Formats: sequence, structure tokens, C-alpha cells
Amino acid sequence: MSEHAKKVALVTGANRGIGFEIARQLGFKGYAVYACGRSESSLNQAVGMLTGEGHDVYPVVSDVTDPESIASIVKRLSGEGVKIDALVNNAAVLVDRNKGILDLTRSEVMETLETNAVAPLMVTQALSDLLNDGGRVVMVSSTSGSFCNGIDHWAPIYATSKTTLNAITRHLAPELFERKILVNAVHPGWVKTDMGGNGAERDVAKGAETPVWLATEVEETGKFWCDKSEIPW
Ligand SMILES: NC(=O)c1ccc[n+]([C@@H]2O[C@H](COP(=O)([O-])OP(=O)(O)OC[C@H]3O[C@@H](n4cnc5c(N)ncnc54)[C@H](OP(=O)(O)O)[C@@H]3O)[C@@H](O)[C@H]2O)c1
Repeated sequence: MSEHAKKVALVTGANRGIGFEIARQLGFKGYAVYACGRSESSLNQAVGMLTGEGHDVYPVVSDVTDPESIASIVKRLSGEGVKIDALVNNAAVLVDRNKGILDLTRSEVMETLETNAVAPLMVTQALSDLLNDGGRVVMVSSTSGSFCNGIDHWAPIYATSKTTLNAITRHLAPELFERKILVNAVHPGWVKTDMGGNGAERDVAKGAETPVWLATEVEETGKFWCDKSEIPW
């Protein structure tokens, strides 16, 4: 039996940026939120701000690229008897914004693919037994990975990681639909964060809006979204 009377969400990369705001908006929607982040001090500061606003938020120190770290999330939630209604795979890195594909190092390629594509799959796999039937999984992606809008040579391995994440979303959706779990990918827009930069066109509140809608309200699966509208892959 879960200790939470509320619905439960887990958000990766919740210590800053869009992930922090997703956790915050889920709090406003009445969810208990497990906020994941790899830096304990940064995560505690973020969770302190959210609990200060009255939200029910629990820090989970975890690196999504580390299998032991993922296993510790499962152990913690299982030990607390917690089941998840919404999993938001938000954590990502962008290390190649000014590089061409021929100049990428192996470590840049591996870090990007591991964090942005492999980790969301591994986290979803590991937590799948803890997801409630009828729950939702959100993959925070980017149109930079879209064959329709992207492939413009900007940040080539970041873009490739998001193309891969989109494909993973499509593979997961029918599998998890057997339990009525909905899996969708989302482009949050160009958002003012450390990743998006100060010149970005939208604030984190707008960037988090559609991910939160996908985590709580959407009734469709296996689709790619921006601003609550379906967009082409
Ligand atoms: N901002 C934009 O304009 C934009 C546009 C399209 C898509 N997106 C996507 O939106 C999502 C959030 O982006 P953002 O702008 O909020 O980025 P951000 O400000 O750079 O934040 C990234 C978050 O991911 C976490 N993270 C990175 N590697 C991790 C790891 N190995 N384990 C655990 N956490 C890790 C970071 O934690 P640390 O603090 O420990 O580094 C941080 O919390 C990403 O998936 C990004 O690709 C953003």
C-alpha cells in the first residue's frame, strides 16, 4: 500500500530548468512528485523551493546513466510501496551545439546517446512494473530530432539522440498500451534554461505546460506533441 493518498509522478532532471518547472506544475495539480537529480546539493535546493511552495516533493539523488542509480530508484519506491502514475523522462545533455558531426569525440557521442536516449529507455524499463495501469510516460524530446523540421546539422549528436528517443517512444507505446499506459514524446519549444539560453523565446512555465498535460491528461499514445498539438516525427 502506497504512503501517498495522491497520484504520484517521477521526473528526471528536476533540479533545474524545464524539469524543475514540470515538478512544480505537477505539484500544483496535486501530485506527489519524486524529483530526480544527480547533484544532491542542487536537488535539495530545488526540492526546498518546491516544498516551500507547499508541494509534496521527494528528492531522489540519481544519475540516469548509471544502472546502479536506476536500481536504487526502484528499490526506494518499492520499499516505500509507491506506484507511479506519471513518469517524465526529462533529463538530457547538449554538448555539441557548436560542433560538426565529423568533429565529435567518442565521449561526446556516448554521453549524449546514453543520457538522452538510452537512459529514458532504461528508466522506463526499470520502473515499468511500478507504473500503474492507465499511467503515462512522457519523453521530453526535441524537433531537432525530427526528420520533418530538423536534420539541419545543428548539434548533430544531440539531434540524433532525440531522433532515437522518438523511435524508442514509438516502440514502447504499443508494448505498454497492453496495460493502458500511454507513452508520448514532446517538444517543449525553445525555452529559456541553461540549455536553451537567454535568447530563447519562451519561459519555463510555457515549456513545461505540454509535458505536464501529457503526464496527466492526454488520452492518446505513441505521438509527438508541441503545444498540445500533434506534430510530425
Ligand atoms: N531548453 C530548450 O530550449 C529545449 C528545447 C527542446 C528540448 N529540450 C529538452 O527539454 C529537456 C529539459 O531541458 P532544459 O532546457 O531544462 O535543460 P537544462 O536546463 O540543461 O537541464 C537539464 C537537466 O538534466 C539533468 N541531467 C543531465 N544529465 C543527467 C544525468 N546523467 N542524470 C540525471 N540528470 C541529468 C541536469 O542535471 P544537472 O544539474 O546535474 O546537470 C538538469 O537537471 C531536455 O530533455 C532537453 O533536451 C529543451
